[in-house]
Amino acid sequence: MAADNTSRQCSPGRERGSFLTFGAPHITDAEIEEVVHSMRSGWLGTGPKVKRFESDFAHYKGIPADRVAAVNSCTAALHISLIAAGIGPGDEVITTPLTFAATINAIIHSGATPVLADVDPVTMNISPDRIRERITDRTRAILPVHFAGRPCDMDAIMEIAREHSLMVIEDCAHAVETEYHGQKAGTFGDFGCFSFYVTKNVTTGEGGMILARNPEHIARAKVLALHGLSKDAWHRFGDAGYKHYYVTECGYKYNMMDLQAAIGIHQLARVEKSLIHRKRLWKLYQEAFSSLPVILPAEPEPGTRHALHLYTLLIDEKECGISRDRFLEEMTRCNIGVGVHYLSIPEHPYYRKRFKWKPEEFPNAMRIGRQTVSLPLSPAVGNRDIRDVIGAVHSILSSTNHP
Ligand SMILES: Cc1ncc(COP(=O)(O)O)c(C=O)c1O
Repeated sequence: MAADNTSRQCSPGRERGSFLTFGAPHITDAEIEEVVHSMRSGWLGTGPKVKRFESDFAHYKGIPADRVAAVNSCTAALHISLIAAGIGPGDEVITTPLTFAATINAIIHSGATPVLADVDPVTMNISPDRIRERITDRTRAILPVHFAGRPCDMDAIMEIAREHSLMVIEDCAHAVETEYHGQKAGTFGDFGCFSFYVTKNVTTGEGGMILARNPEHIARAKVLALHGLSKDAWHRFGDAGYKHYYVTECGYKYNMMDLQAAIGIHQLARVEKSLIHRKRLWKLYQEAFSSLPVILPAEPEPGTRHALHLYTLLIDEKECGISRDRFLEEMTRCNIGVGVHYLSIPEHPYYRKRFKWKPEEFPNAMRIGRQTVSLPLSPAVGNRDIRDVIGAVHSILSSTNHP
């Protein structure tokens, strides 16, 4: 048992004056002025700025504008993609145990049953071999998550999908900039779902986007996102005169507002610049931690583009002489915000109880979930911040009794 009872506070003088918030967004005057413009125009809800954000996103992804729909979260995007894919009660959807609860909840809300397939220990992405083992007569879809922004093995996943006539819904919450063999994340599957939550690479505060290969799926998703009202119901209060709408199915309230799109338009315009900044931070971390007894994230695979959404270290207590949870506490004591992405899904009591899953059944996800720590990597992290994070990690690990 590694000693974990010595004092490991930051070295004297190491604490920052102010707390470094994990995943803080980088908001410029352009976003602020655009939001103010929306407020002054009086058009706060779904309107022309949402349309522009959709078309900018489609352009960024290199697809036509009739294949995207903006919504108010990635959770909503996943939920209505599953419904538009025709998935419901009695169906099984295979996904990863190393994800946020939203991925699993969306499957449950669609009425289908989530089925977990363990991840690869190095890439932390769902393993195609484990997917194959989980296919049954009831499997209808695969829902891969491009974890941390690293693309899944989409060649293998799409091959399995073709062999078994399965839908593919990509969870691209971390993967705006991600590419695999020259193709952009979200354009492989029948649907791609993006998040613009506040910590994400592109933020609108809360927000999401659906990409679909089939424009009819997008048309359906738009109807589902706005109560089931007939197409483009947001036009009903426009200057072209009042338009009747008709309810064509029982939908949801998942539409994005212009206030959100006002932020997103400028965030998206800076997405590549922001990636260059995070690439620099990532490299500084990799160099600074190479001598420590932690496990560093694998470099991006050749022929792929990693969106560098998360920088994660694995803290193995036997190697580091400190438990992961104690490490989290010490980082917080150094005034540095950290994250855990993620405790594996079967660690949560609700899913354990409902699906009888045990963490040990998914050993790679379990180990990663118990050892992982995410360090600040947002575009708001500056030179002084990065020095503080690196200094704190060294200071905590050098005061441990690791071998
Ligand atoms: C992998 C993954 N999927 C889905 C979601 C849900 O995104 P949102 O908060 O936009 O609903 C998140 C959010 O953190 C996520 O990390």
